Amino acid sequence: MNQKILVTGGLGYIGSHVVVELQNEGFDVVIIDNLSNSSIEVLERISSITGIKPMFELLDLKDKSSVVEFFKKHIDIIGVIHFAASKAVGESVQLPLLYYENNLNSLIYILQELQKKENSNFIFSSSCTVYGQADSLPIIESAPIKEAESPYGNTKQIGEEIIRDTCKIVPNLKAISLRYFNPVGAHKSSKIGEMPIGTPQNLVPFITQTAIGIRQQLSVFGNDYPTIDGTCIRDYIHVVDLANAHIAALKRLINGENESNYEVFNIGTGQGSSVLEVIEAFEEVSGQKLNYQIVGRRIGDVVSAYADTTKANKVLGWIAKLSLKDALKSAWKWEVNLRRK
Ligand code: UD1
Repeated sequence: MNQKILVTGGLGYIGSHVVVELQNEGFDVVIIDNLSNSSIEVLERISSITGIKPMFELLDLKDKSSVVEFFKKHIDIIGVIHFAASKAVGESVQLPLLYYENNLNSLIYILQELQKKENSNFIFSSSCTVYGQADSLPIIESAPIKEAESPYGNTKQIGEEIIRDTCKIVPNLKAISLRYFNPVGAHKSSKIGEMPIGTPQNLVPFITQTAIGIRQQLSVFGNDYPTIDGTCIRDYIHVVDLANAHIAALKRLINGENESNYEVFNIGTGQGSSVLEVIEAFEEVSGQKLNYQIVGRRIGDVVSAYADTTKANKVLGWIAKLSLKDALKSAWKWEVNLRRK
């Protein structure tokens, strides 16, 4: 019997890539998704990559009784990877209560079910946003948590605290928070990738949509930052590398290799790239000239963020293998493929 893993938000951008890697590793996967920011089509796309259709439950994790029922039905779940959450920074400023309700209630309801189990393993999708503008770079996990810039960012900070506090008093619950830097790129099959609804807020989908002609021009938010070329620095990590970090974290918990029952890891490449460097790399791998313009700074942007990945490399035995160019090439192939239909 294969081990059964629940992936919440498993039809989303990162979740779908994790489902593929889990299936490749021989896990049985059950997905919960409410389709608020994803499409049911992704289920078929996942099975066309792996040859296995994951189990699927259309369910809203804000509905506590459905969560209780779900865990009664799937009593053999041994691990949960929790992605389901709202993630638009700007929207969260406009709709804070919706973000707190959605992102925190769902987390609490899942943990309430996990603490009933004899043994459970939980991976939380956190973000480098918890560091804000770090005082020193690269960023290590012990860097101070800064006041959140947005309700979205705050839900990640509070989410981590909820898990930490629960783990303190529930010894049979083991958890890891993965603090992602900037996930980009798509699966090499071009069957799954990032599918923003409406205007993309993140850099790479905006670049690919501009290159394909859906957007007229990319706005580069500020070139007067204290960096090599004046534009902001981020640590862009290929989504497939990121997905594999989840497998490493999950196996660590399942095999009982964790040092304490709550741990935190940075998941990035350790390499910082400026916005202009990303544009240049994209132009090189795609052969497209990108129409862009420098505009004013975006409120809330940090100047520079890239990970110290030593802990993840040593303790999880995981390392990012793919480059920024690999990621941009796959993102472009995915975009071209999407628009072909
Ligand atoms: C953003 C969120 C972060 C969240 C992450 C999820 C903000 C302030 N931060 O990170 O909390 O965890 O997404 O993916 O929204 N850029 C442009 N033009 C664009 C878009 C972006 O120049 O049209 C620049 C930004 O100024 C930034 C870089 O590209 O320097 C990356 O931006 P983005 O992809 O939005 O990611 P973050 O801001 O790092």
